[in-house]
This record gives sequence, structure tokens and C-alpha cells, in this order.
Amino acid sequence: MKPRKSGRIGVLTSGGDAPGLNAVIRAVVKTAHSRGYEVLGIARGFEGLIGEPDFKVLASADVRGILPLGGTILQTTNKGHFSGQRVVGAEGDPYLEAFENINRIGLNGLITIGGEGTQRITLELSRMGAPVVGVPKTIDNDLAGTDRTFGFDTALQVATDAIDRLHTTAASHNRVMVLEVMGRHAGWIALHSGIAGGADVILIPEIPFDPQKVADGIMAREQAGSTFSIVVVAEGAIPRGGQLVYQAEGRLGGISGILTERLGEITGKDCRCVVLGHLQRGGPPTPYDRILATRYGAAAVNAIADGITGEMVALHAQEITTVPLEEACARVKTVRPHNDLIRTARSLGIAFGD
Ligand code: F6P
Repeated sequence: MKPRKSGRIGVLTSGGDAPGLNAVIRAVVKTAHSRGYEVLGIARGFEGLIGEPDFKVLASADVRGILPLGGTILQTTNKGHFSGQRVVGAEGDPYLEAFENINRIGLNGLITIGGEGTQRITLELSRMGAPVVGVPKTIDNDLAGTDRTFGFDTALQVATDAIDRLHTTAASHNRVMVLEVMGRHAGWIALHSGIAGGADVILIPEIPFDPQKVADGIMAREQAGSTFSIVVVAEGAIPRGGQLVYQAEGRLGGISGILTERLGEITGKDCRCVVLGHLQRGGPPTPYDRILATRYGAAAVNAIADGITGEMVALHAQEITTVPLEEACARVKTVRPHNDLIRTARSLGIAFGD
């Protein structure tokens, strides 16, 4: 494809919100304007490309002051018309509708900011011939093809702060405090915040745990004179031979409550749990996330201007690059059992319940 000098770039935010979405939008608008493009902000993710296209031209004034804001000025949709596998040729195929609308509003490039689900939709649109570039977002950091997604650092900050605060109650009351953090398939938030916050036990989806072993570890600490313990558990952690715990259909949550009750029964200690939930996704992004989001936004526009589409911007060894969307969608980036952070944690005596 020949590099373009000017035209129209669309931008949308899709999937769950994450701190840094607005920072990307701002960088897209500023970079696009400097390269002679007009920017259309598509509303509510890909939903804004269904039916009558729902968008607005983004002027510089629209992105003024949004760098530190959580959420997304464009709004977002999780799944919507695009949930499930595409059935080519099906009546009312949302992909076809979105593709036609991309052409109808004359986009020379469409920047899609989102996690795994978003990048899958983006890949399908790319295969149909749409000039798309993905931007990797998710607090879970589980997107393949990039070292980091923006949003993760802020979630980590919130989770670590929560552990620090729980420590004081745990120590004052000689309690076991269990903190449930997000992490559907991958335990990155639990692992990083657990180490940063000095947790005693970290339970992640990648390592099935035995509640008895967790309790044994707590009692061993007790005998050694540490009369309280901090357990960090990812929402997707699974007891050995057990199943994922859902709070409602399709919505993970509640493993900490079940574990807390069990630990109380086995150890006889006073145990409490806290579910951090969406607090991890809200509020202002950290400086790291603002910078990463800004770099991604600028890089996505520059890729389109240079004629590079069908790719996702990515961070590799501290440098921004692009990777094929296929690579980003090929797998979920999970914690490998021999990851050096796991080894570091084990060296410090942190238990994984295995
Ligand atoms: O993908 C990010 C994530 O935060 C997951 O960890 C979590 O399971 C999910 O989003 C919850 O999303 P929501 O409650 O908004 O549907």
C-alpha cells in the first residue's frame, strides 16, 4: 500500500475500559492533525459502525484535558453485536455492516483500542480488506505480541496499594486477609502486586492450588511467629480438581469468599476477604500508562500514514514496533510456571498453593 499524505482516520475503544484509553485518543488526534488527517471518534466501540454510523469529528478541543482521565470519552461496548464467532454469509452479519460503514464514511485507517476480543474483531475486518491498526489495552496484560498492554501498570498500583492497606488490619488483628484481584486467564496482576505488596500466598489461574497447602503455609508462618498472612488470589484461580467461580453468568468472581471460608475452617484463624473488582480499572492512569498509551496512539497514526495496516502496535524490549494482528490473536499471554517472577517469589518463600 502506498503511504498516504492525508485523509480520515477513525478511532474507537472497545471491550472493558482501562486507564489510558483517553491518553491514546489524545495522542491519535494530536499526531493525526500534525500529519494532515481528520479524526473521527466512533462511539461505543464497533457498535458505532452498526446501522447509521455513530461518530463525531474530534477537534483539538475535544481532547484537551483528557490525558489524566480514566474511562473513555468515546464510550465502549463489551461484545455487543460482535460476540461469538463470525458466520460468513449470515443475515445481518455485523462484520459486513461495519466494513461497509468504514468505506461509507471514507476511513483511510481505523485505530481499534482494546484487548484480545477487540483484536480478533480487528483481524477479521483486516482480512476483509479494512485498513485497521490495533492498540493493545487490558489491565490483565494477557495480550500476546506485546510485552505490555496499557492499563496494567495502573491496576498494579491499585492492587499493591490495597495489599499495603490490608497489611495493617491483618497485623493488628492477627488475621488472614484474602484479596481477590482481576485476571481471567492470566495471573499477571496477582503475581506482580503480590510481590510488590509482600504477600505470603499468591494464587493464579496458571497454577491450580490446594486449599490445604495454603492453610499449611499459613500455619507454618504462625509457628515461626508471623501471626497474620496476606493471600492474593486472581479471580480466575482454580482449586485443584475444581472449577472457575462465577458471580453471574459469564462474570467471574467469588473465589476469595470460598477460599476464605475454607481457610477459616482448616486453620481456625479469623479470615476476611476483599474483592477489588472494577476499582482496578478506574481512575487516573499512572505516568507509565500515560506514556505507553501516548506512544501507542502516536505509533498507530504513524503506521497508517506509512501505509502499514493489519498490524497491532506493540512494545518489544522498551521499543514501540508493530506486529501482525494474527500474532496478537494467536494465544492468551499467560504466566509460564518457570517465569523468573515465579522463581523470585518462591525464593522469598511466597507460596502458590501447589
Ligand atoms: O479483561 C479485563 C477484565 O477486567 C477481566 O479481568 C474481568 O474478568 C473482566 O474484565 C470484567 O469485565 P466486566 O465486569 O466489565 O464485564
